[in-house]
Amino acid sequence: MKIAILGFGTVGKGVYEIVKKANMQTQNLSVSHILIRKNKNKTMSEMTDEMSDILNDKDVDVVVEVMGGIEPAHEYILAALNHGKNVITANKAVVAIYLKEFTEAAERNHVKFYFEASVGGGIPWIQGLEKALRIDNVNSISGIFNGTSNFILDQMSKKGQSFIEVLKEAQKLGYAEADPSADIDGYDIANKLCISADIAYDIDIKNHQKLPIFGIRNITCEDVKYFQKRGLAVKLIGRSHQKDNKFDYVVEPALFLDQTLEANTPDNYNLISLNGETIGKLDFFGQGAGMLPTANAIVQDILDVKERKSHLKRDFDKRMEYCPDLTKGDYL
Ligand code: NAP
Ligand code: HSE
Repeated sequence: MKIAILGFGTVGKGVYEIVKKANMQTQNLSVSHILIRKNKNKTMSEMTDEMSDILNDKDVDVVVEVMGGIEPAHEYILAALNHGKNVITANKAVVAIYLKEFTEAAERNHVKFYFEASVGGGIPWIQGLEKALRIDNVNSISGIFNGTSNFILDQMSKKGQSFIEVLKEAQKLGYAEADPSADIDGYDIANKLCISADIAYDIDIKNHQKLPIFGIRNITCEDVKYFQKRGLAVKLIGRSHQKDNKFDYVVEPALFLDQTLEANTPDNYNLISLNGETIGKLDFFGQGAGMLPTANAIVQDILDVKERKSHLKRDFDKRMEYCPDLTKGDYL
């Protein structure tokens, strides 16, 4: 399995590291290309600044997009799918807008488009949601969907550090977006809610600009202390409901009693929940941001592609016994 990584920042480096380790454990994965910006020095033999090198290399099975932003991420993902490459991304901003287009392009080209890491970092949330939907109607989704804002509020309450101080630490730790206003003003959660609702309610939701989104920019240490004294913790949450094919959502800071799961969600953790008709409330808890947890979710997606490829190969070999005229291109 040959992998091309687009963007070599926090998550890209994490994917490279885990793939190297997985390869040592005989997973037979290797990173053949790393796309970097044109003005950057090529410090590793895998590095290129030409997307066409990746698209035109027939041996590249999987393209991992971890550059962030809308363009050229959208253009490169589509181009990779149209060149018959499987694509995996952690980029919620682009998935929230183009999920339908990417899924259709993947189907047309008989490849896979996976985006597990785009919501909940290392938590297998998309997979969990898809599994729940095999049996249930999911009527609501809610919780703490952003590691950076959770880290900021948690550190403010535990260490009494100022908002700006903790934000800088979250950036150093690789939790925050390139533009951290997405984290603190709630837009990152809005993107994640859109993706989740798109899957859960089967509605193509692109335009979330009109829905209410509030952030934590104006919350001070004094506010946090005031709530603490009253046995409350403030958290930035996303909530969404669906009824009769109508959907709404809100992103807002909310207060939780000390003993609740939400109040006890620490550091960069996420606590995200779905509500299904027969399963009831199902909570997912884990690291929602950071290099290795996010890269872990991406490498899990890579392993799913690998497994699919071996199934196709086994299927092809079986069919060859009966139909020796088949060519590999028909199946693989
Ligand atoms: P990052 O550290 O900023 O890394 C992005 C890398 O991509 C940077 O090296 C950037 O180069 C490069 N890049 C951007 N545009 C490029 C282009 N056109 N061509 C080549 N390289 C380009 O960001 P990150 O934290 O790894 O996040 C990457 C993606 O994963 C984002 O979509 C983010 O939302 C998502 N994500 C992140 C986390 C997390 O915990 N960090 C978790 C889940 C999902 P420059 O530095 O020169 O701009
Ligand atoms: N900046 C995002 C967060 C990364 O803090 O949750 C994970 O999606």
